[in-house]
Amino acid sequence: MSHYHIKHLEEYYQVYRKSVRNPEIFWEEIAEEHFLWRKKWDKVLDWNFETPEIKWFEGAQLNITENCIDRHLATRGNKTALLFEPNDPTEAAQHITFQELSERVNKMANVLKAKGVTKGDRVCIYLPMIPELAVSVLACARIGAIHSVVFAGFSANALASRINDSDCKLVVTSDGSFRGEKTIDLKGIVDNALEDCPGIEAVLVVNRIASEVQMKDGMDHWLQPLLDEASAECQAEVMAAEDPLFILYTSGSTGKPKGIVHTTAGYMVYTAYTFKNIFQYRENDVFWCTADIGWITGHSYIVYGPLCNGATTVMFEGVPSYPDYGRFWDIVEKHKVTQFYTAPTAIRALAKEGVAHLQNRDLSSIKVLGSVGEPINEEAWHWYDDNVGKRKAPIVDTWWQTETGGIMISPIPFVTPTKPTYATLPFIGIQPALMDEQGEEIKGNQVDGRLCIKFPWPGMLRTIWRNHERFKDTYFSAYKGMYFTGDGALRDEVGYYRITGRVDDVIIVSGHNLGTAPIEDAINEHPAVSESAIVGFPHDIKGNALYGYVTLKDSGESRDHNNLRKEINQIITEQIGPIAKLEKIQFTNALPKTRSGKIMRRILRKIAQGEFDDLGDTSTLLNPEVVEEISKNAIV
Ligand code: WTA
Repeated sequence: MSHYHIKHLEEYYQVYRKSVRNPEIFWEEIAEEHFLWRKKWDKVLDWNFETPEIKWFEGAQLNITENCIDRHLATRGNKTALLFEPNDPTEAAQHITFQELSERVNKMANVLKAKGVTKGDRVCIYLPMIPELAVSVLACARIGAIHSVVFAGFSANALASRINDSDCKLVVTSDGSFRGEKTIDLKGIVDNALEDCPGIEAVLVVNRIASEVQMKDGMDHWLQPLLDEASAECQAEVMAAEDPLFILYTSGSTGKPKGIVHTTAGYMVYTAYTFKNIFQYRENDVFWCTADIGWITGHSYIVYGPLCNGATTVMFEGVPSYPDYGRFWDIVEKHKVTQFYTAPTAIRALAKEGVAHLQNRDLSSIKVLGSVGEPINEEAWHWYDDNVGKRKAPIVDTWWQTETGGIMISPIPFVTPTKPTYATLPFIGIQPALMDEQGEEIKGNQVDGRLCIKFPWPGMLRTIWRNHERFKDTYFSAYKGMYFTGDGALRDEVGYYRITGRVDDVIIVSGHNLGTAPIEDAINEHPAVSESAIVGFPHDIKGNALYGYVTLKDSGESRDHNNLRKEINQIITEQIGPIAKLEKIQFTNALPKTRSGKIMRRILRKIAQGEFDDLGDTSTLLNPEVVEEISKNAIV
């Protein structure tokens, strides 16, 4: 018998030891007993972190949608699979059963096929949080098309570069989206993007907001009439274990976004197994993850992990502040949510509004609370624990990444004693290591270093789309034979991990990873700008906000700085999206540089954080005098 469901701490340690000593036997048992295979594997694991090459369950055949949908039909056909809560609280929620989900996914799959999409083709999904988003994701998986979901807050430019990087053939979008009181013209954004996307052959448009949009003949199609005519039967494509399931773009510290590639079998096993344990999922639970499916959290813990376990998963279209800051709690009460999984930035935003919104709302259904996306500060942790969980619902502070596919370090609720701000212990099968700057592993407890993972796990990324070199450079070059996460961490006296934050040039703003390089590239496009550097600084709600240092060309000197600030943020919004806007922009005559011409971000970071007394030795700089100028004019 495999340990699919861990129930106490001793069992955790026992299973953990087994998973580390005999990973192949361990994962084979999990895979064997809890999933539906068309054909079993020939080999559980084949790996090499130097080349790097990682293969799980090689030789196996399956379709992930048969695991997420078909196998539940006999016993859970009438159970709610997707529970859709619309932006407008007066619009009825939709309870989509497994049976209905099956029909909708099959119809969508048939529409995609009719538009010429076949196994291995890439499909871009640019949709708000409506059922069609989950349905489209699953429909791609049904026919073996590789989905590339782009978060519907990204700009036309960002969308176009993602569509082109993976040569998508088709886009699924909607006329627009609702966000609180606002509507957003998504189709307009897609139209702009597609001016630069010659490979797109068709656009399928969901009618969500009933707005007037331009439909290009032969290219744009309203989705509903096509669905109405499609058959509700669609044979699942038989996929090999290592066939790509999806691409999801994430920011790197340099260059363009990375198309993270996840494959089928390992990702399925890992997301399903982590979901079951880390949320202590039971049959009649109602699981709600507030993330957007445009991010990995939504892929793994709104769609694949929950559905694979036959769970009811909530999809919320709106925002936490609409119609007021009690909306999350209204939804918890209305649908009797049992697991609530959100981000520290949302917790801080809600905490700021006070506890009045929580009063008169019945949150007693909640059993487990989750946090993800960035380190959770102590104050937010306690607010969450006291006011939402009433100190009865353990908080799982789950550390992981787009690249890891699923949760890597986290308490198991009711099993692992929690500790505020600590992600605690590695999940089953995960072998973390802390490394020093010389590349040596730091053993023992009460130490800190750079977080690496020593051994493969089924949910890990397999490559960067059409850029295996970058895959190797980014994750496997810093520390020989290890996967490098880009995060720093400490290990306390009992072996609990606390993630301290990024050690590279990725800044996490409101839980969104932003690379400094693409933002700087956008700023530098402004005709008056000569050079720029972005750093993060602590922000009460967002966790971090962006501080930009900008030098101007001569012609820019006389310009109105406030206008320039607006124009710079406008360019960033167009190139990347509003999430990447700068909170503060300081104009300066020069940036501090080393003698080899590298910008000294460490100093700029200190200044942005107001730590003027702690700038370290600046004498080795090429231009030490600018440090004083920048400090004097810093925006605090
Ligand atoms: C950060 C999100 C501290 C971390 C699933 C990581 C966290 C990056 C936590 C990945 C956490 C995520 N505590 N930091 N519980 N969860 N992070 O790819 O820096 O959007 O490397 O994946 O978020 O962000 P991504």
